[in-house]
Amino acid sequence: MKRICIIGISGKLGQYMAEHALSLGYEVNGVCRPESAHKLARFGDRITLFTGRTDSRPTIARALRGCDGVLTVLAPWGVNNYASGTASAVLDSAAPGARLIFSCGWHITRDGKDKYPVKLKAFVAIFGALARLFRAVDIKDQIRATDMIFASDRLWTVVRGSDLEEGESEGLPVWSRHVGDPVLASNLTRRTDFALFMVHALTDDRLIHEAPAIVGRNSASAKRHSAQAHAVPA
Ligand SMILES: NC(=O)c1ccc[n+]([C@@H]2O[C@H](COP(=O)([O-])OP(=O)(O)OC[C@H]3O[C@@H](n4cnc5c(N)ncnc54)[C@H](OP(=O)(O)O)[C@@H]3O)[C@@H](O)[C@H]2O)c1
Repeated sequence: MKRICIIGISGKLGQYMAEHALSLGYEVNGVCRPESAHKLARFGDRITLFTGRTDSRPTIARALRGCDGVLTVLAPWGVNNYASGTASAVLDSAAPGARLIFSCGWHITRDGKDKYPVKLKAFVAIFGALARLFRAVDIKDQIRATDMIFASDRLWTVVRGSDLEEGESEGLPVWSRHVGDPVLASNLTRRTDFALFMVHALTDDRLIHEAPAIVGRNSASAKRHSAQAHAVPA
């Protein structure tokens, strides 16, 4: 794999993914809104930038040309299907055989077997309702987006992030198939390591058609239940 594209490259996760991808020697295309391009000044000509909304099909088609890996930040902004529009544009435009990695939160489920902490259920219900009321965020659109991805026969991985914190990398997070598995109980990952996992997934075929829920490898629950964790080599 030589050239990859990061959709939503100007956000916090996107910029961390760009750093990791460049340090691994990938050529990097990126898509961000025009008003956010300035956030990427420090990358200079080390990345090739395509400006536009991430649900713009012509922008995505141009940005994905020549890429065999795509890292997509699914962000459910507004009430006009931004996340599902982004997912659909990527699924339809990526080259056959491209590895497609998507980011989202723990609240989406692949098989309905996740057991959510009460705090997370309350947050999703209250924040989701308020955000939709103010037309700021449609949290259910991330669910529509990931349902579309799960139904696709593309080579996808959906990485489900826990709560995030800033800080130095601790290395690749560990993962488990279902929220509620004891190894995930700490519910905390460094944002840079979420990005590291996304980039790692590009070349780990064991993650194809998986929706790993991740947690920091040094978190208390990961250490306590290390035997049950899926760990990938650091
Ligand atoms: N934050 C958390 O605690 C958390 C926890 C678990 C999972 N996640 C997942 O991690 C990923 C990134 O989350 P993050 O919190 O770290 O945020 P982030 O990386 O800063 O990403 C937010 C993205 O949304 C875009 N965006 C912001 N406002 C927008 C608007 N009004 N219209 C369109 N796009 C807009 C940003 O683009 P611009 O640069 O153009 O603003 C950026 O690409 C998401 O998939 C999220 O579901 C986050």
